[in-house]
Amino acid sequence: MTTKYIGILEWVKQQIQDEKLKTGDKLPSIRLLAEQFQCSKNTVAKALLELEKQHIIYAKPKSGYYVVDNHNTSVHHQDIAIDFLSAGPDQRIMPYEDFQHCINQAIDHYKEQLFTYSDQQGLFSLRKELAKYLQHLQVFAKPDRLVITSGSQQALHILSAMPFPNGKKNVLIEQPTYFGMIDALQANGITTFGIEVTMEGMDFKKLEKLFRTDDIKFFYIIPRCHNPLGHHYTNEEKKKIVALAEKYDVYIVEDDYLAELDTDLKADPLFAYEPNERVIYVKSFSKVFLPGLRIATVVLPEKMISSFVHNKFSADFNTSPLSQGALEIYLKNGMFQYHLEKVKKLYSNKMNLLLEACSLYLPTYVQFTKPKTGFYLTIFLPSGIDVDKLIYMLHENHIYVDNASRMFLSEYSQKAIRLSISQVNETKIQLGIRQLAAHIIDLYEKRNYNVLSFKSYL
Ligand SMILES: Cc1ncc(COP(=O)(O)O)c(C=O)c1O
Repeated sequence: MTTKYIGILEWVKQQIQDEKLKTGDKLPSIRLLAEQFQCSKNTVAKALLELEKQHIIYAKPKSGYYVVDNHNTSVHHQDIAIDFLSAGPDQRIMPYEDFQHCINQAIDHYKEQLFTYSDQQGLFSLRKELAKYLQHLQVFAKPDRLVITSGSQQALHILSAMPFPNGKKNVLIEQPTYFGMIDALQANGITTFGIEVTMEGMDFKKLEKLFRTDDIKFFYIIPRCHNPLGHHYTNEEKKKIVALAEKYDVYIVEDDYLAELDTDLKADPLFAYEPNERVIYVKSFSKVFLPGLRIATVVLPEKMISSFVHNKFSADFNTSPLSQGALEIYLKNGMFQYHLEKVKKLYSNKMNLLLEACSLYLPTYVQFTKPKTGFYLTIFLPSGIDVDKLIYMLHENHIYVDNASRMFLSEYSQKAIRLSISQVNETKIQLGIRQLAAHIIDLYEKRNYNVLSFKSYL
């Protein structure tokens, strides 16, 4: 039976790879397959069950088996692509199976709560668990101050739009910064000021002036593993920023999305230096865990909670309780801590490889940031280079990078590309950077790349 069984598995996979069976196509019936492979219907049924488990086919009751997806094309694409663009976690360490157990357990545990409208602030039991978890990151707050949001993007969107206790109107952001924040501010029509950040930090005199004169409601800051630079502030700098915010009655929105990857165990969040509920701490679980869960938490000053929750309610009632329940179990049973160990090692190895390759191969007229950890590194290009053209040339060679222009307000605009190490395969980093360097040299020194037309891949 084993060989017939394996024969059926391989035959179906081959048919899909050769595109003889495409997404949505129906498989031959069990009877026909049994005849074709000269085996019992039972053997065919077992093979089909296995293919179902591998998510290659799915069953429609009383109809038959159908192909889920054409795996062939995506596998081929993954084989040749060098992906410095994608910013979700490395798919190879996404804890699908462990999490599947947690989802099943969550359904068993919380049957009634999971499939109805639930607490708008987030499941209390999860908030309790998160309050405990945040202590590892030096964030000490009672569960009552936590709100669960549908990703940190939702928290940033709500904070951009809602009134703050200081009655001020404008927002200050680092330049460059996370483009999703720029989008949220623009969508909400908020007047936005910028302050330049480099790997050496920022100008505190400028910061003080902006705080003093520009009616700043809050300062949005990414304190470590900065997106897109990879910059980290020192504890001293963080203390200074909090003190200035106190002095001028400015709130701080601290986006600590990659806190877990920080290799400096003494590094604190700004939140740790605020005695007066001045810092709003936003923690996503997308980058170190599963972006599709859409779960983040935000720690708010007591006086902002009801207004924030009201705004959240008007956006989506509540964050999916199924995701919340499963995350709670994942945190409780220690699987998350175990997962984090693997995550840290993988990304820090990839970042080291990227830094080494950039130092070895990029021409000297190109500046690049040198993050100690995190997902991102930014390359600043000389003014003679057409960034869209470079991205087009790379794209033609299956190398994908991000144009950093959308990470700047227009008045701060610079020629730069952002590289992400999160999904690139470590075996391809060096090759990718060698090719990137060759294209930069081609464009900048030889200036001989002729394309009749090219479009931007933003
Ligand atoms: C700095 C930063 N903050 C927040 C987010 C939003 O993450 P999510 O909404 O998935 O929690 C991202 C996503 O890329 C990000 O890079």
